[in-house]
Amino acid sequence: MLGLKRTKRGCQTKMIARVLLLHAVLVGQVYGNWDIDARIVQGSNADLGEALQFLKEYDAEASDMCFRVSTAQWKYATNMTEANKRKMMEEQALKAKFDKLTWRKAITFDWTRIPDVEVKRQLRMLTTNTRASLTDDKFNELHQLISEMKEIYAHVRVCPYAFNGEKPMFCDLELSDVQKIMASSRSHFELLHIWKEWHDKVGTPMKNRFIRYIQLTNQAARINGFLDAGEEMRFAYEDRDFDNDLAISLQKIQPLYKELLAYVRRKLIDTYGPKVVRPEGSLPAHILGNIWAQDWSNIPDIVLPYANFRNFDVTGEMLKQGFTPLQMFQMAEEFFTSLGLKPMPPEFWRHSMLEKPNGRRVQCTASAWDFCNRVDFRIKQCTEVDMKNLITVHHEMAHIQYYMYYADLPHLYRDGANPVLILLRFSRRRRKCCNTFGVQPCAFPKSWTF
Ligand SMILES: *[C@@H]1O[C@H](CO)[C@@H](O)[C@H](O)[C@H]1NC(C)=O
Ligand SMILES: *[C@@H]1O[C@H](CO)[C@@H](O)[C@H](O)[C@H]1NC(C)=O
Repeated sequence: MLGLKRTKRGCQTKMIARVLLLHAVLVGQVYGNWDIDARIVQGSNADLGEALQFLKEYDAEASDMCFRVSTAQWKYATNMTEANKRKMMEEQALKAKFDKLTWRKAITFDWTRIPDVEVKRQLRMLTTNTRASLTDDKFNELHQLISEMKEIYAHVRVCPYAFNGEKPMFCDLELSDVQKIMASSRSHFELLHIWKEWHDKVGTPMKNRFIRYIQLTNQAARINGFLDAGEEMRFAYEDRDFDNDLAISLQKIQPLYKELLAYVRRKLIDTYGPKVVRPEGSLPAHILGNIWAQDWSNIPDIVLPYANFRNFDVTGEMLKQGFTPLQMFQMAEEFFTSLGLKPMPPEFWRHSMLEKPNGRRVQCTASAWDFCNRVDFRIKQCTEVDMKNLITVHHEMAHIQYYMYYADLPHLYRDGANPVLILLRFSRRRRKCCNTFGVQPCAFPKSWTF
């Protein structure tokens, strides 16, 4: 076992460090410009050569590990057998051990005293936003909790709404059914029932696990030198004025958001009445067309103005022309190459799963994969021929573009520029956008709204 052996003295030192840390924070807050770095650093090695050597080895090993884990995860996601699941869990466990070992080596360095900016940044990335600082027991417990919560999420089944008060025969709706009902039903009772069913059945068994998960992540964050996991997560944005910057952005968009909210609320009241939607209140989460209320694009029939211009849907045309999923991906590739971006590599066409296969269980959630070896990139999507899927195809392929463009960077940098969820929208008027808006909105990456 890769035990984190902590001596009594180590503990005491840590306690003292924590008291000092608290002091530093209090004093720092008084003067307002304390440096977070001092809290985070644990080791004292500032030798640039050794740091470079360590990072070089890490890069090779981590890429290799990432390839193995991704491969096992892909096999399971596209062929959900017990054997594939076991293999995936084994690889994930090896990766967890590797992460722990990496962390132990990385904390021996004092990156604040290393002059090289890149080395500094990579060492900082390896020693923060990691749970590897937990003891073995707690580290394993955390991974166990995460995998249990994923299991719960994947296997929840809910009861359909009983329209005429009869008990439903089967309670076998899964997430994809739930999403379809949320998008298409306009019965307030059915929507409320499904929303409540899903949240009760997902949330209840997860609750205690989630509370424990938060405890453990906060513990790890404190060992890493932060006040809690929230502060540690914000640190990853590499913006010392993050809270303030966010507040300013929010202030800027709030007037627009308020108008949008008032408008959508008015339209929802027109459909569901003031008993369901309070004229002065917030929007009920269950009638926005999405189980998480995070995307309102499924209710154009309710909210879009100008009825005559509503029909942006090319599904009928796609069906008429006999489109196949493969053609949809070829079309997306043509879109990206027309912008001067890269075509999909041969590995993409050879290994991707572009349609739901027969005869085996697969995870249908559309996703884009980077196998960390600079050549193998894939999409998994149970593509159906309609416009929604056509948009998803473009969205996923845009992820692949990112993967290909940062393939030559160090492993640690092959990710989004920061942890913000990248909400990438493909312009529905993509063919026309260059003429309509001038070149700028179509240029990489400005045509994608984040
Ligand atoms: C699915 O995985 C099993 C191993 O669990 C394997 O025997 C089978 O060939 C796989 N099927 C496909 C289509 O890859
Ligand atoms: C209840 O719904 C089912 C299926 O929609 C229908 O066949 C049945 O006649 C309904 N029963 C009543 C009492 O309305």
